[in-house]
Order: sequence, then C-alpha cells, then structure tokens
Amino acid sequence: MFSPRSIALGALSLMFMGSTCSAMQVPESLLLDSVAQSLALPIYTWSANGTHNAKGYTTEKADVADVQGLFEDCENINLNRKLATNFRSDVFGPGVIGFFYKCEKISHDTNMYWFTISSGNRSQIDQLCDPNQKYPIVYDKQHDTWFVDEPFDCTQRTSPSILP
Ligand SMILES: *[C@@H]1O[C@H](CO)[C@@H](O)[C@H](O)[C@H]1NC(C)=O
Ligand SMILES: *[C@@H]1O[C@H](CO)[C@@H](O)[C@H](O)[C@H]1NC(C)=O
Repeated sequence: MFSPRSIALGALSLMFMGSTCSAMQVPESLLLDSVAQSLALPIYTWSANGTHNAKGYTTEKADVADVQGLFEDCENINLNRKLATNFRSDVFGPGVIGFFYKCEKISHDTNMYWFTISSGNRSQIDQLCDPNQKYPIVYDKQHDTWFVDEPFDCTQRTSPSILP
C-alpha cells in the first residue's frame, strides 16, 4: 500500500523546490540534478498553489479526532516541509508531486496546509483544483493517523510557458 502522506525529505525538499528556476540555469548543480532525476520531474509542468484542510482521526471510521497525530503532522511540516511524490496516486494516478511547506491547526480535528503541486499532466491539476473532488480516507503510518483530505483551494495556477 502506498503511503501518500508520509514522505518527508526535510530541508532537501525545501532547497529543491525553492531552486527550480536556478536549477535550469545552473546545470552543474549535482544536488538538484540528482533530485530532479530521481523524482523523474517532467520538463513541462502544470502547477498550482493554495491551501487545503485535512481532518485527522484515530481510526478508519473517522469518528474520533487524532489530536496528537494532527499536532505532530503540522509540527513536522513546519519544521521539515514535506515533498510527496506520486501524491494521492489512488485518486490522480502517478506523477503528481506535492510540496507542503506550512501548517496551522484550525480546529480540534482539522489542520490547514499550504501547498504547491505540480504535474506533467494538466488534467491531474484540473482534477486537484476541482472544488468537488473527493478523497478517500488514507492511513499515515508515520503519525498513526487516518486523514481525510478536503478539496484543494487553488489560488494560483501556472502552465508551461513553452508547450511541448
Ligand atoms: C501562490 O503563489 C503566488 C505567486 O508566487 C503567491 O503570491 C501566493 O502567495 C501563493 N499562494 C499561496 C497560498 O501559497
Ligand atoms: C492524465 O491524468 C488523467 C487523470 O486526471 C488520466 O486519466 C490520464 O490517463 C492521464 N494522462 C496521461 C498521458 O498519463
């Protein structure tokens, strides 16, 4: 079973996502080349940013808030950021890369996350930004918490400037 919420690459992901443009101009960056190659980053990407909420529960029945798991996930994202390759592949199929870089608790059972997301397949980003998109509950092994993702609120979207 894939684990869409559990991939944490720490500071590396922050450096990488913050430096995508300079990676194009600085081909001698071994670090960024290596990260881009191992993630199989598409050359032409569609992307979106914004915020979304997720609720955390102690069991798959989603009846009791997992206050500790929500706290730990938020804390981890604020400290380390999170880069998720093949984010929610159960919903989108492969190839969506999600970067989560800020989190705030907004109620006892809900966190708000700031995201930037990218894919080589435009319809995956259309689907992600659809306010009616539903996400099945998923288990996060790292925090032993069941998460329900709510729709992603895309505040800004970009298309490749050079189309393939
Ligand atoms: C989305 O990106 C734009 C442009 O960089 C930025 O101004 C905005 O604050 C971002 N929004 C969020 C929610 O991250
Ligand atoms: C693009 O994503 C959609 C799902 O949003 C999928 O149905 C389609 O097969 C994907 N296309 C390619 C070329 O992977």
